[in-house]
Amino acid sequence: MSDELTALRDELEGAVLAAGSLEALEDVRVRALGRRGAVTELMKSLGKAAPEERRERGQALNRLKQAVADAIDARKEALAQSELERRLAEERIDITLPVRPAPEGSLHPISQTIDEITQIFGEMGFRWAEGPDIEDDWYNFTALNMPPEHPARQEMDTFYLVGEAGSRPVLRTHTSPVQIRTMLDKPPPLRVIVPGRTYRSDHDATHSPMFHQVEGLAIGRSIHMGHLKGCLIAFCRAFFGVADLPVRFRPSHFPFTEPSAEVDIGCTREGGQLRIGAGGDWLEILGSGMVHPKVIANGGLDPEEWQGFAFGMGIERIAMLKYGIPDLRTMYDSDLRWLRHYGFRPLDIPGLIAEAAE
Ligand code: PHE
Repeated sequence: MSDELTALRDELEGAVLAAGSLEALEDVRVRALGRRGAVTELMKSLGKAAPEERRERGQALNRLKQAVADAIDARKEALAQSELERRLAEERIDITLPVRPAPEGSLHPISQTIDEITQIFGEMGFRWAEGPDIEDDWYNFTALNMPPEHPARQEMDTFYLVGEAGSRPVLRTHTSPVQIRTMLDKPPPLRVIVPGRTYRSDHDATHSPMFHQVEGLAIGRSIHMGHLKGCLIAFCRAFFGVADLPVRFRPSHFPFTEPSAEVDIGCTREGGQLRIGAGGDWLEILGSGMVHPKVIANGGLDPEEWQGFAFGMGIERIAMLKYGIPDLRTMYDSDLRWLRHYGFRPLDIPGLIAEAAE
């Protein structure tokens, strides 16, 4: 190797060793071996050398290039090793540090209310049942004693869909179709509650096009109006946490129950403030009745042998009453401030058990 090349090699090797970081090392590499690097330029100039010199100089340049590349590789490894050692020496994980508390989520008042309802009816022997949100006209109306021209159909502000072969599925307007589904699905006696989404074309401070209902159905050989009353009175008192809450059964009409009753609870509205409990006023909270014999038959049961009661209530409505939520629409805004204010701790146990444990 010529003196000139030896000097260049010494210089580059010195620069490699002096590089204190991977970035500095990369600069040296570019300066020596990059497209415009010193070694690369010398190789490019090989073509101008006299033919007899070319071979020897070519070999010398290759050795130089290899030497520089090897020096860079070695330095790279040394830098990585010392970086690792530095981190091992400096970084410490303090395993005694307490865990940083994770941001706590909360249960939406609708979920909380469904939990409370299932808890209370669960203790009375009711089991959870479900049905589809998109219903057949037959389940939502006809099987519930609302034939095609029935006026009650108009009152429901139904969302109709376009189905196959000219059929018109609906977004279920109530949870009552699950009465039929349950009777067709399971052998009696039956006790189910059906919390779920329901849909009507309606939108203001107390109505939303999507809302929740809970249906209840009890079928047995000798279930009568007394069971209906006892069960719903017990529910209202447990749910609102008022032991002597007045509960009133007011004659009403639903096509799928006979007789039918709407259920009111006692309240006062003194000073513009609604308070649930004893008082001169009434507040309607749910619909109920003895299941119509035609509905029992449409559920595949013999109405001479089986009878029962059913009820249905709006979940948003009773949640708003219990927790003092003034506007239904805020329930679906997903505003975190609202959710933190009205939400519930996820691990709290709802309903009767929590009260008994207090
Ligand atoms: N399905 C009725 C409604 O949506 C409520 C109801 C259910 C009434 C069961 C009686 C029996 O208004």
